[in-house]
Amino acid sequence: MGVPVTGETHQAMPVGPRALRSVCGLFVTGVTVVTSGVAERAAGTTVNSFTSVSMDPPLVLFCLHNNSRLHTVVQETGAYVVNFLTGRHGLLARAFAGKETASLRDVPCTASETGVPALSEALAFLACRLVNSFDGGDHTIFLGEVVDLGRSHPQEPLIFFRGALSALEEEPPGAHPIFDG
Ligand SMILES: Cc1cc2nc3c(=O)[nH]c(=O)nc-3n(C[C@H](O)[C@H](O)[C@H](O)COP(=O)(O)O)c2cc1C
Repeated sequence: MGVPVTGETHQAMPVGPRALRSVCGLFVTGVTVVTSGVAERAAGTTVNSFTSVSMDPPLVLFCLHNNSRLHTVVQETGAYVVNFLTGRHGLLARAFAGKETASLRDVPCTASETGVPALSEALAFLACRLVNSFDGGDHTIFLGEVVDLGRSHPQEPLIFFRGALSALEEEPPGAHPIFDG
């Protein structure tokens, strides 16, 4: 059986940065601050390209622009922490996405097992040792093995959709997990 044809079509656009941003903006994501570096070197950047990759071994990845100030910090530290933000963290997400990136000194943190700070008020965190990095065009894909993790009490997550940050206020009605992994 073929795919039903409804007569509706998508608006075709030439592939380019604007179109890519507008289409990818329709894919709703959570928002994280990725931290790396130890002590004075510690820094963070707002990131939504986080993906869980493998359960055994426990692997995750995120993509970082090659011009990011965090890039060399991740490479030199060989470790990073992915901090999932809560719905109350809109300003924090903006602060770590600005040209003048915010300082971790102004945010409550605890040291993860790798020594890289985890944000104390994050919804959850995954501390990773860098196991590989891959060329991703103008970004680098940083693959990490999870060595330490934790989660806070249940709270609304911060989400990114159509270029805007907001809290996911409630679960959609009738939502039942289809996957408990
Ligand atoms: C919601 C959101 C998600 C973002 N996700 C990423 C990302 O996945 N990778 C990335 O390189 N930059 C991402 N950015 C942009 C960086 O946060 C931004 O360019 C920041 O200024 C980089 O600062 P840095 O040079 O200190 O790393 C994101 C920004 C926002 C607001």
